[in-house]
Amino acid sequence: MQHPEPRCTCRPGAACAPVAEDNPATRTSGRTLDHAAPVYDLLAPLMTLGVEGRCHREVLRLLALQGAEQVLDIGCGTGTLTREIAQALGSKGLAVGLDAATQMLKVARRKAAAIPNIRFDAAIAEALPYDNASMDHFVSTFFFHHVNAALKRKTLDELWRVLRPGGMGVIVDVDTPYNLFGALCAWSGYVLFHQDEIRENIRGELHKALAESRFDWRVQSRRAGYITTFVLTKNKPDSNVQIKKEK
Ligand SMILES: C[S@@+](CC[C@H](N)C(=O)[O-])C[C@H]1O[C@@H](n2cnc3c(N)ncnc32)[C@H](O)[C@@H]1O
Repeated sequence: MQHPEPRCTCRPGAACAPVAEDNPATRTSGRTLDHAAPVYDLLAPLMTLGVEGRCHREVLRLLALQGAEQVLDIGCGTGTLTREIAQALGSKGLAVGLDAATQMLKVARRKAAAIPNIRFDAAIAEALPYDNASMDHFVSTFFFHHVNAALKRKTLDELWRVLRPGGMGVIVDVDTPYNLFGALCAWSGYVLFHQDEIRENIRGELHKALAESRFDWRVQSRRAGYITTFVLTKNKPDSNVQIKKEK
């Protein structure tokens, strides 16, 4: 009998029972959001003070997609940006969304049901299930304030491994506030969610993790007083074009 499910463990000849999807959320200390899946798309624009759309447009502009790339969106949540990336790519391109929360991915897959060049993988960012240099670019929006300092570093190591030389990454996340309004927003998030990872970002932990990574990187823009867009590159060993590392 041909078993339709590749990970099926049924005995040969037995009726194939569906295999429950592995639950990667049990393998990470990252703040996963299965519980928020039904309301995430309603709350996200409010939580990001309406700048979500502008952030997405900036990410797409920075990626300057040609059409046939493979782009990874880590901590993709309900896949809104993943979907926009797929739509910006041609039929030869592929947008891959990865998240540890299977309920978030359920929503993401439903929203992207009509889009052929998109895939969602349930996995953890700190142990990416992809080959070395298999991604042309990666993006990450509002993911890094869901993982602690150690996981930020592990994730950056993994992103370095799977990105091809010459590839680019764009990270948008909570960062050290640069005005009173931003400080109020960022610290309110910390208090509201009791989330130490937010406090780490406020105290500059993402900058430190980037500085310790092998990426060349720069701050591209800042908005709302506490949200920063970072551009990362994995320069080819022979590249003459170097983005200066921020200190
Ligand atoms: C605030 S949401 C961001 C979702 C989406 N990128 C956006 O901008 O709306 C953070 C996401 O990171 C996921 N996450 C947390 N820890 C993770 C980990 N270790 N590996 C993969 N995903 C993780 C959560 O499940 C959640 O969907």
